[in-house]
Amino acid sequence: MMLHKFPPTFLWGAATAAYQIEGAWNEDGKGESIWDRFTHIPGKITNGDTGDVACDHYHRYREDIALMRQLGLKAYRFSTSWPRVLPTGRGLINPRGLDFYDRLVDRLCAANIEPFLTLYHWDLPQALQDTGGWENRDTCHAFADYAVLMVKRLGDRVRHWTTFNEPSVIAFDGNLVGEHAPGLQDPRITYQIVHHLLVAHGLATQAIRAANPSLEVGIVLNLWPADPASEDPADVAAANRSWERSETLFLDPLFKGHYPVAVYDLVGPNMPEIRAGDMALIGQKLDFLGINYYSRNLVSAEGNIETVPGSEYTEMGWEVHAPALRRLLNQIHRDYRLPPLYITENGAAFPDEVGPDGRVEDPCRLDYLKNHFIQTRLAMQDGVDVRGYFVWSLLDNFEWGHGYTKQFGIICVDYETQKRTIKSSGEWYAEVIRSNTVVA
Ligand code: FCB
Repeated sequence: MMLHKFPPTFLWGAATAAYQIEGAWNEDGKGESIWDRFTHIPGKITNGDTGDVACDHYHRYREDIALMRQLGLKAYRFSTSWPRVLPTGRGLINPRGLDFYDRLVDRLCAANIEPFLTLYHWDLPQALQDTGGWENRDTCHAFADYAVLMVKRLGDRVRHWTTFNEPSVIAFDGNLVGEHAPGLQDPRITYQIVHHLLVAHGLATQAIRAANPSLEVGIVLNLWPADPASEDPADVAAANRSWERSETLFLDPLFKGHYPVAVYDLVGPNMPEIRAGDMALIGQKLDFLGINYYSRNLVSAEGNIETVPGSEYTEMGWEVHAPALRRLLNQIHRDYRLPPLYITENGAAFPDEVGPDGRVEDPCRLDYLKNHFIQTRLAMQDGVDVRGYFVWSLLDNFEWGHGYTKQFGIICVDYETQKRTIKSSGEWYAEVIRSNTVVA
């Protein structure tokens, strides 16, 4: 038996996102988001699912915070819905929307759970999409104004502020692949959107600090390390290329102040407009970096290996491979001058069943989390400064294009009755948090 003890200040948490759990899509003055619009288009989402009701967290947040307490969470990462507080994205404020987040944060604080707030987890106000969305530079300024509004209301209680969740998914899945809202497939605008998301991050970071210099500001990136399929130099070169073209696209501008040369040939004629001063704005110092890690790519000179012999896969079709998390943390620690890190998402979709006794046994998810916790601890012993860990996700929820067919929660949600049941992985996690130790 091995005991992996974590530092006493380590922040154990769980994460969610507004559109995936809140529901109440058109209540109390909320405006329409691009996800409201997109999910209502027939054929876009598995089974025609929408986030109209989702986990009904908007009405059940008290019960959900009681469950967080039962798990002993020290921190909770959630996002605020921009159109809930600014129905058309700018201008007119919806006080009832702001009140909701105020109540949520108050209750978290009363439960001694530290709130980590994300300003943008993909639900752009539809009114801003109608004027060009992230292709339009004005949206960056609207975002900074929204950030200040939230800071003025919640900055006395929320210390950790994240601008964007996974800008690459916003740019590519939403605007090039088209499987996410707003469902565009336009290579001409994709890199302009990448750049505008980073400009918006920079403007919001500045504005948040001007409004309240005591806050900590960061961003969350999804990183999929690329491992070479063999030691063959051709495979190693292919893996390096894959890493440079996707993952460094955001790491380099944020932490080195320039875009990676390796992406220039991908961008080709679709070069974004970059204004004087933009790169300094984007590269300003951050207080933390959030990393979402789910899996890795195994890359050969011929392309990605889709099925790795001997590997287990989750319901998403993602390979289960915890050691790549330790390597990833070491690699970025070596390649960049980084602020403190948080694992802001990590978790797995496996099919769950409620047993006759009402229990949900999910040994695969438990093992997945255990192995990733251990690899994180080892990376910390290697010298990487990781301050906390947010399991994705607190609740089963609306998994974007997959609707309700993929379950990531450590708490099971019955969508018919909205009954919540802590899964065995959740019970195990509560013990990890209580003892601050992972037993292997
Ligand atoms: C991440 C998203 C999160 C969730 C997980 C499975 O990319 O940030 O909302 O969908 O994947």
